[in-house]
Amino acid sequence: MYSARVMDHFQNPRNVGIIPGADGIGTVGDPDCGDFVRIYIRVRADRIREISFEICGCPASIATASVLTEMAAGKSLRDAVAITEDNVVKALSGLPESKVHCSNIGVAALRQAIVDYLQKHKKQKETSKRQI
Ligand code: FES
Repeated sequence: MYSARVMDHFQNPRNVGIIPGADGIGTVGDPDCGDFVRIYIRVRADRIREISFEICGCPASIATASVLTEMAAGKSLRDAVAITEDNVVKALSGLPESKVHCSNIGVAALRQAIVDYLQKHKKQKETSKRQI
């Protein structure tokens, strides 16, 4: 049912865990199945320098979140936010049709983490300007 690549990322997920003091955090759940993922990012010079995730999900959502973190690591925020669900599914050599939707929560959580970073970053800039 699953490709060898899906099984590899499901059984040996990469970048699992929390980044203490992360610059951005995104949490997204699927209301239909109850699965959810939280993605942490550390950003330097507009690039994702570190990324990790926590998940409560099905094998496909674990595999997609894992491969997504590998795809996003080191990318500029602009390139990372452009990663699509389709890119993730292709990176896993496909998913069964009934599991394609499982790639949605990881991609959405990454985008939310980037938005979270940008909002915090903007607030920090405004605070620094006021202090000058
Ligand atoms: Fe819920 Fe896969 S069944 S994300």
